[in-house]
Amino acid sequence: MKQSKTVPATGRKTGKQDRGGGFRLEDWNWSWSPRSQKEAGDAIVTNFMLHWFPNRVSLESISIRYSYWLGTITAFLFFYLVFTGVILMFHYIPSVERAYASIKDIEYAVSFGSFLRASHRIAAHLMVAMVFLHMVRVFLTGAYRNGGLARQFRPLNWWIGLVLLVLTLFLSFTGYLLPWDQLAYWAITVGTNIAQAVPVVGNDIRFFLLGGNEINQNTLIRFYVLHCVFLPLIVTGLFLWHMWRIRKDGMACDDRLALAERAAPARPEPSKTYSLLGVTAGRSATVEASLVDEDRYKIRAVPGLIRRISIACLLTFALTSALAVWLGSPLEEPANPMVTPNPAKAPWYFLWLQELVAITTVRIGGFTVNGGFLGGVLIPGAMLLWGFLTPFLDRSSRSSVGVWFSRERRLQNTVFIVVCIAVIALTYLGTYLRGPYWTVIWPWESWPDFPPQL
Ligand code: HEM
Repeated sequence: MKQSKTVPATGRKTGKQDRGGGFRLEDWNWSWSPRSQKEAGDAIVTNFMLHWFPNRVSLESISIRYSYWLGTITAFLFFYLVFTGVILMFHYIPSVERAYASIKDIEYAVSFGSFLRASHRIAAHLMVAMVFLHMVRVFLTGAYRNGGLARQFRPLNWWIGLVLLVLTLFLSFTGYLLPWDQLAYWAITVGTNIAQAVPVVGNDIRFFLLGGNEINQNTLIRFYVLHCVFLPLIVTGLFLWHMWRIRKDGMACDDRLALAERAAPARPEPSKTYSLLGVTAGRSATVEASLVDEDRYKIRAVPGLIRRISIACLLTFALTSALAVWLGSPLEEPANPMVTPNPAKAPWYFLWLQELVAITTVRIGGFTVNGGFLGGVLIPGAMLLWGFLTPFLDRSSRSSVGVWFSRERRLQNTVFIVVCIAVIALTYLGTYLRGPYWTVIWPWESWPDFPPQL
């Protein structure tokens, strides 16, 4: 921000006039181009948002080839969803009689309603995909482990992340029902039927989710409150905790740099002013800062990091908007419990589960062994358990933390990639290749014209 001679409109005295007596906006806020290290540090302290970031960040941690900015993109999509969702709430009516009509109004009568709805829907799909890819990158860089620095506990952030992943799926799932069209009604029917396969309490879980034995007004209002209030609040809280943990633990790729710096302590530079931020407990600011050859490996968070975050967010916004205009948002016939579509499919991110259930359902003679438990509960449950235990199962050395495809983690990386490819392949199979009665229809085969099941 360039120097400004404007007097504040309020005429309020800040007590922060610069030495020349003029008013500078950065004294009130923060500067894009601080003129000294001290000013850069002060810029962080005076701005609430920037308490999240250290004064300086390593070039590696902000390089695209380390994180691909996937966490940042996920975070942007979440807040964009909150923004577009709140506007949609002004028009949407969570009643079985009026929900479909209110969505039609949004689609055809409200100014920019169609764009808004499509943006919300596309951002939700993208968020599911991005949070999955973010988890993949964290796994493949071994960023769930401590790198040997004091006061680190990275497994906690990995677990918070896993909960965020599950909540993201649930957030999207609860939103699916709201248009109250055939797609919504039957996707939720299939989805909640999978939950029913949990032994002993399966029926209770389904009853709890639906607010009864079938999808009706109770379900709609339940999903509405979960989708618009309850889940977004929990995700926001966990996201803030996630960010705070990163601030405390540091980015995994920085561990080696920090350890190397400690191994070769430098003398404090008398001409340099150090900021208090970024100091770990138990060391003085001078000693900690003096170990860092900052100019070589790091840049200032303001403007370096902020600028990159803004670019990542703007590009994501542009992509979401372009897809929203291009693809729009589907709206089928109003929900009709009497007409079952054939095939009835779960939302795409649960199709791998639906596939697992179908594959593990076997017919022996006249008997059918239902795969609901094996495919719908046991296998995904084991995967989740593996996820939670991951930080403890990893025996690689600390020098491999924050390194993509480290040779020391070859085995678990291979297993993980195979599992991910299987999930993606099953999702593809369920989305594009399953036809009526769940038969496989290859792209070169024509789709048989079955009447809906009455
Ligand atoms: C709503 C979902 C999530 C949001 C908004 C989010 C956001 C972020 C952001 C902004 C970062 C900073 C680095 C980057 O941009 O990649 C990050 C890092 C991290 N995330 Fe997430 N995340 C989410 C879900 C997850 C999940 C599902 C996991 C794993 C199961 C996870 C584990 C981690 C870990 C361990 C780090 C530190 C990475 C490192 O030190 O290199 N997060 N997250």
